[in-house]
Amino acid sequence: MQLGNLTLQSPICLASAPWQLEGAGYERLGAIFTRTVTMEPRPGRYEAGIWQVADQTLLNATNMRTESAEILVQEHLSGLLRYGVPVLVSVTAPGIPGFRKIARFLHREAGSQIAGVEVYITCPETGRGTDITPKFVRDATEAVRNELGPDAAVVVKLPPWPDHIRGLALGAQEGSASALAATNILKALHLPDDATAPPLVGGLSGEALRPVALRCVYELAHDELLTLPIFGTGGIFTAGHVVDYLRVGASAVQIASGEWLAPGLTARLAAECENLKPETVATTWKS
Ligand SMILES: Cc1cc2nc3c(=O)[nH]c(=O)nc-3n(C[C@H](O)[C@H](O)[C@H](O)COP(=O)(O)O)c2cc1C
Repeated sequence: MQLGNLTLQSPICLASAPWQLEGAGYERLGAIFTRTVTMEPRPGRYEAGIWQVADQTLLNATNMRTESAEILVQEHLSGLLRYGVPVLVSVTAPGIPGFRKIARFLHREAGSQIAGVEVYITCPETGRGTDITPKFVRDATEAVRNELGPDAAVVVKLPPWPDHIRGLALGAQEGSASALAATNILKALHLPDDATAPPLVGGLSGEALRPVALRCVYELAHDELLTLPIFGTGGIFTAGHVVDYLRVGASAVQIASGEWLAPGLTARLAAECENLKPETVATTWKS
């Protein structure tokens, strides 16, 4: 996949998640996307907030705890860079000035080390779907792009909303994104067996998300105005799932739940897909 000036060596990437990387084989990956960081750390639960609610399906009820960009740069970045593959830092902020500030910080403190930034636009602090408009996406993307400069990769990660994803993606394209990622987690609720326990509210990922994310990628890839390459993200556990995303128009994929449930899966799939050429995967359909 061509990501701005970068050519990814593999279409298989680690998605944004709290990786404490020990991963054998990660040098085979196309890229590593870090956990999302904010300018100021946000409280919340971490591992204790991640629940398996169905087969290969997770509910992330961490309340989106984040570490600061400063901690990422000081404590985690060198560990992520040791695999020698491009590292993109996932960022979020409650508004446009916040995106500008965190991008400026990363450019100043780590600009020569990182390949770029992934923009997580569904900021949990605002959190309401109505706040996430094409204009918001365009302005957030543009703010990040202006701080990082023309050579950095800016990937915009979109929510799993098939009816609305096109407008948001056009906003990202107008804001000079290098690529799109579809999708992030889907807001969901799980009722524990114990009827006295409160419902778990969070974001759904894994197997249950895949059909929705595939539809989102399909919508983006088959739009005549959208030209950005797409990372397909959601429910990838096998090489067959990778091919499914390529068939609907993704150029590469990101994996989170699969790696969480079976550490090392991403590297194994990268090895398995070594000879897979995304551009040769058939995208013709019989109706
Ligand atoms: C444990 C866990 C933590 C995650 N943390 C983040 C995060 O910090 N930032 C982000 O943008 N997405 C995060 N995600 C979402 C994933 O990057 C991905 O978009 C989503 O889970 C769909 O892919 P999957 O089905 O392979 O998990 C997380 C997912 C999981 C399972």
